[in-house]
Order: sequence, then C-alpha cells, then structure tokens
Amino acid sequence: MPAEIDHTMTLRQRLRRARSVAVLTGAGVSAESGVPTFRGPDGLWRAYRVEQLATPEAFARDPLLVWEWYDWRRQRIAACRPNPAHQALAALEQSVAEFLLITQNVDGLHQRAGSKAVVELHGNIWRVRCTADNSVTENTDVPLGTVPPRCTCGAVQRPDVVWFGEPLPETAIARAMRAAEQCEIMLVVGTSALVQPAASLPQLTKRHRGYVIEVNLEPTPLTAYADESHYEAAGVLLPKLMASRC
Ligand code: OAD
Repeated sequence: MPAEIDHTMTLRQRLRRARSVAVLTGAGVSAESGVPTFRGPDGLWRAYRVEQLATPEAFARDPLLVWEWYDWRRQRIAACRPNPAHQALAALEQSVAEFLLITQNVDGLHQRAGSKAVVELHGNIWRVRCTADNSVTENTDVPLGTVPPRCTCGAVQRPDVVWFGEPLPETAIARAMRAAEQCEIMLVVGTSALVQPAASLPQLTKRHRGYVIEVNLEPTPLTAYADESHYEAAGVLLPKLMASRC
C-alpha cells in the first residue's frame, strides 16, 4: 500500500520559512475546548440566533435576556481549557520573527494558552462596561450574582464586547489591518468568514501579495480566494504543523 501523503508537509515548510505570520481565529478554534460556536448546530441559545442577542437594540429592549445569554456563555467558558490548537498557535508565536494573532473570540483562551501578541477584535467577555460613564472593569464572577451587573455609579453595565452595528475598537482593527497587509502568511482558523470587517482581513493580505491558508471543517466564503484550504479540526491539524518546528 502506498504511504499516505502528508498534506501538511508543504504547509509546514512554508511556515518554517516565513518571517512574518498573522493568524485570524474564530469560534472554531475554541470548539474543541467545548465553547459553543455561533453558527453551528450548537450555536443556538434557546430559540435565539446570535444576531438577535448581540446587538445594542436587543440590550436596550431586554438587558436581562442579553445578560442571561452572556452569563450562560461565561459559565460555559469558565469550565473550558485551551486546547491543542490554542497551544500550537502560542508555540508558533515563539518561532516567527513577526507575529500577530488576531481573534474574533472573546473567551480569552488564546492568552490562557500563552499567546502574547493578541488583538481582540470583538472585546472580551470577562470585562464589563458602564453604560453611563463607559468605565471598563474586569468581572470574572461565575455565575453573575446580580443581573444586570451595576457600576459603582449605579448605572447598568454591559459586556465589553462588540455587538452587531457597533464599530470595532480603533487601535485593534488598525493593528490587525497593518498585520494583514504586511504578513507573508495569514493563517485563518475556525471562522465562518461571514462577519465584517474581520472577514475582509485575508482579502487585504491577498491584495498585498501575501499567502492565505484556511483551516476549517468545511468550505467558507474565504475558500474561493484562499491559496490553500485544509478541512480538518484545528486541534488536530495545528499541532501537526508545529511538530516539525521543534
Ligand atoms: P462561527 O460560529 O460563525 O463559525 C465557526 C467556524 O468554525 C465554522 O466555519 C466551523 O466550520 C468552524 N469550526 C468548527 N469547529 C472547528 C474545528 N474544530 N476546527 C476548525 N474549524 C472549526 O464563528 P465566527 O466565524 O468566529 O461576533 O463568528 C464571527 C463572529 O460572529 C463572532 O465573533 C461573533 C459572532 O456573531 C460578535 O458577536 C460580534
């Protein structure tokens, strides 16, 4: 029987040679940790879609409902640990001269795995922001005692995350765009590539003659222009890529 072809081989070589790598991650990178994705079969919470909960309008209409959803997500995330995909990306950072990990995730698992150069495009679920004075504080209470939580000024707090229709933090998106333009390789892991502006970052890399590699379980809109797409679980594929670097 012929030996099985190792499709990760050239990818490994490419990464080994690269001086600058940008990584864009989505919910799929945390799926193997047990964090629910947004658009998969486990993406629904009660009967709601993410677009019905993660909006300023939903929060204005029913802050308790939105906070209940975030409280549920915080409890799920608190019980999760970084998986081999997070760990492989933390290891990749150590071996590339210029590296930036751009994540749409709010779970903090990349940092817990040891990643240092991380840009959080959509905020962080462990911070809350006052709706009156905009002060941001860490809040790791699980479960949240009082919902909605309140600022010392008495006003209701909201999760310090980006909702649909809201702009991304300026410095975060500027740093991400710079990295997308300048990197030799962009590795895109576990995102449906449906939510802007994150979904446009790999296009920016292509326009600047960078090389785009996708890792997902299935094709996405990115597949049409990615240089390579690999359909395998991130927690399986990424550690294989890193194995040869040690
Ligand atoms: P989605 O839930 O839309 O997509 C997750 C992607 O990960 C899908 O394409 C899956 O096929 C893939 N996937 C699942 N398990 C995987 C695994 N083990 N290995 C590799 N890939 C896997 O999540 P995002 O693309 O991150 O924003 O969603 C983007 C944004 O939409 C989120 O940041 C959030 C959401 O609304 C806001 O809340 C503003």
